[in-house]
Amino acid sequence: MAVQKIAVIGGGTMGSGIALTAATHGIQSVIVDIHEEQLTRAQAYHAKQIARSIQKERMTETDGKVATENLSYVSSMEDANDADWVVEAATENVDVKKSIFKSMESAFGPNTVFATNTSSISITDLASAIPDASHRVIGMHFFNPVPIMKLVEVIKGKKTSEETTNATLALSESMGKIPVPAHDFAGFVSNRVLMPMINEAFHAWTDGVAEPKDIDSIMKLGCAFPMGPLRLADYIGLDVCRDIMMVMYNGLDENPKYFPNQKLVALVEAGHLGDKSGQGVYEYEQG
Ligand code: NAI
Repeated sequence: MAVQKIAVIGGGTMGSGIALTAATHGIQSVIVDIHEEQLTRAQAYHAKQIARSIQKERMTETDGKVATENLSYVSSMEDANDADWVVEAATENVDVKKSIFKSMESAFGPNTVFATNTSSISITDLASAIPDASHRVIGMHFFNPVPIMKLVEVIKGKKTSEETTNATLALSESMGKIPVPAHDFAGFVSNRVLMPMINEAFHAWTDGVAEPKDIDSIMKLGCAFPMGPLRLADYIGLDVCRDIMMVMYNGLDENPKYFPNQKLVALVEAGHLGDKSGQGVYEYEQG
């Protein structure tokens, strides 16, 4: 049966994009975030994106109104418990996510699917937090910016049922996405390939090979990347990059190639997280 309502846990960069994409594809979407300011930011982002789509004639006013009505924002899971699907998109930390999974199991009904947008953490490990519901846990890895990027990397855990997998493929397609499977290794495919490149770009910077803008220009002009690796790191969020690298380092035999570069870690510790904080490798104008 088609999904009627999605609860998205975490209303940051990814959660707000996932909710917007679902809402514009006719699915009611409620964002749950423990930080009120994130709910306010998500709502402002949605209003801006919908207004822009109408202005550019990519959406009618009526569709914009329907999408807006499909969106809601709450600070407690209990206020979203009529959803029949959950996408967990909170901070990339295994303990945070496991604790959210335990709360999800008590808050939502016995048939709800628990998809996680984790970039790197083992789905089997996350599902172990709720053994009785582990057949309903799956990786549903969207890409940033969600309304534009076509891919959803779909990762089954050891106990994920065929029913859950098939429903995930169907939901991804109904949101206009192309689902592609990957196996349950730390970082899956996308980040296993991407993060060492981003890390190496930081090493090239700190070793003095070139300045950030030149590293990015070389990779754009020479390798036809739409965005250089350092600019992309800011866009993803430097904290998110660091967290993903640590999950891969710990999950893939402590291979040093995944260990985050010191400059990257120092920027995160200084609160320079990239686009979302206004400063990272580069500086950004507010808004
Ligand atoms: P973010 O830092 O922008 O947002 C995380 C949100 O989670 C924050 O709004 C925070 O308040 C909320 N949160 C933390 N604990 C919570 C809890 N207990 N209950 C409800 N909300 C809680 O992070 P971002 O970038 O949106 O990443 C979220 C997830 O998506 C992570 O697992 C990340 O690895 C993954 N991801 C990130 C991508 C990116 O490009 N940033 C791409 C694909 C996946």
